[in-house]
Amino acid sequence: MFKSMGSSMSKHRPIGIGLIGLGVVGAGVVRILRQRADYFSSIRGVAFDLRRIAVKDAAKSRDCDLPVDILTDSATEVVDDPDIQIVVEVMGGLDPARDLCLKALENGKDLATANKALLAEHGNDLFSTAVHNSANIGYEASVCGGIPIIRSLTDGLAANRIQSIYGILNGTTNYILTKMADDGGDFQAMLRRAQEKGFAEADPTMDIDGTDVAQKLALLCRIAFRVSLDPSHILKEGISHVSPLDIDFARELGYTIKLLAIAKAMQDRIEARVHPVLVPSGALLANIKDEFNAVEIVGNAAGPQVLYGRGAGQMPTASAVVSDLLDLAERRLTGRSVGRPALADLPRANAIPPEEVETSFYCRFTVYDQPGVLARIARIFSEQKISIATVIQHGRSETEQGTVPLIMTTHEAREASMRTAVQQIDRLSVITEPPQILRIEAL
Ligand code: HSE
Repeated sequence: MFKSMGSSMSKHRPIGIGLIGLGVVGAGVVRILRQRADYFSSIRGVAFDLRRIAVKDAAKSRDCDLPVDILTDSATEVVDDPDIQIVVEVMGGLDPARDLCLKALENGKDLATANKALLAEHGNDLFSTAVHNSANIGYEASVCGGIPIIRSLTDGLAANRIQSIYGILNGTTNYILTKMADDGGDFQAMLRRAQEKGFAEADPTMDIDGTDVAQKLALLCRIAFRVSLDPSHILKEGISHVSPLDIDFARELGYTIKLLAIAKAMQDRIEARVHPVLVPSGALLANIKDEFNAVEIVGNAAGPQVLYGRGAGQMPTASAVVSDLLDLAERRLTGRSVGRPALADLPRANAIPPEEVETSFYCRFTVYDQPGVLARIARIFSEQKISIATVIQHGRSETEQGTVPLIMTTHEAREASMRTAVQQIDRLSVITEPPQILRIEAL
């Protein structure tokens, strides 16, 4: 039967589970708990007892075959139920998820959540509430869905001082950039395609403006560098301004454009940023296609490690949630309930201010095709101590007073110098459109 799944084969008492939310991911969690019940019970010694599921409308008919009395309209019933030891929060959003999760932890229950926004915004509260109540939080599903990135950092690479993280952490934007490069088409057309295929969220704003990635990166920095980093302090830029022209010029220069999350430990400071970036086309991360995610972690002992897989979707995300359930349950059953290194009360990250970050740049200027234009731009770069690496201008404009794209790449320069240079260049009378500036990362 559904309740006490596999309990007959486990020597331990069943672990009571309560779900808050039965949307796409919640239904996936229920499915995996059923499919893997025998393995969990006979090999891992854990019998799960799914006792309560809080939904918006308990009376609504559903596809999954669940006992009627398991559904409730009241999430409070789940977090207050004394027979539930682990609460799974898969409702999303900040409110009321935050209060419900805090209440579950205050009641001494462990929490498994896929909610990266909640952890990024309220991580300090949640982790310290967990510690003070001898409870644990599992959050494997909150970053890169099915890829076991959290456990790789906390367990697999625990012997390492993490030096850097480079990641493609968002499937929607990677799909859009891949299709723009492989099939042609502009950002809007490829966003529509991502929506038709079901990759993009109904409101994809947080995906395409980089917020989703910044939240995930803040969480990875918390684990890798043991600092609290407010996502709003991360240098962040989305992909909506990347044009087919940039994709073509990048290719000509030997690069592919990706939306990367980058975090580096630099002595006592952290550099963290999220933006579209030109990466060498032969690099591993340049070849992560479509909706897939990948993360490269460099540890001082293990060196570089790359994890690759599906960062979103029902079953990959549910896979991560259930792996947390198993981990949390095993900790309870073996009396290691406060064994996790606390992520509470971490010092604020000493983040390098965005204007001090140094990278190489790709610049596309739309200019009148006339003598002296290049010299005027070059003079401004020179005044800002920005060294030019390459220049591309093809052919001539076909119309008198016509414009052409002028592409320049630079050697490493400070963000602040580039901002000043671009403001001055934008004011030149020979420039007809706002300059397009993207960063380059050698990897
Ligand atoms: N919307 C995200 C993505 C998945 O496209 O990768 C959830 O974080």
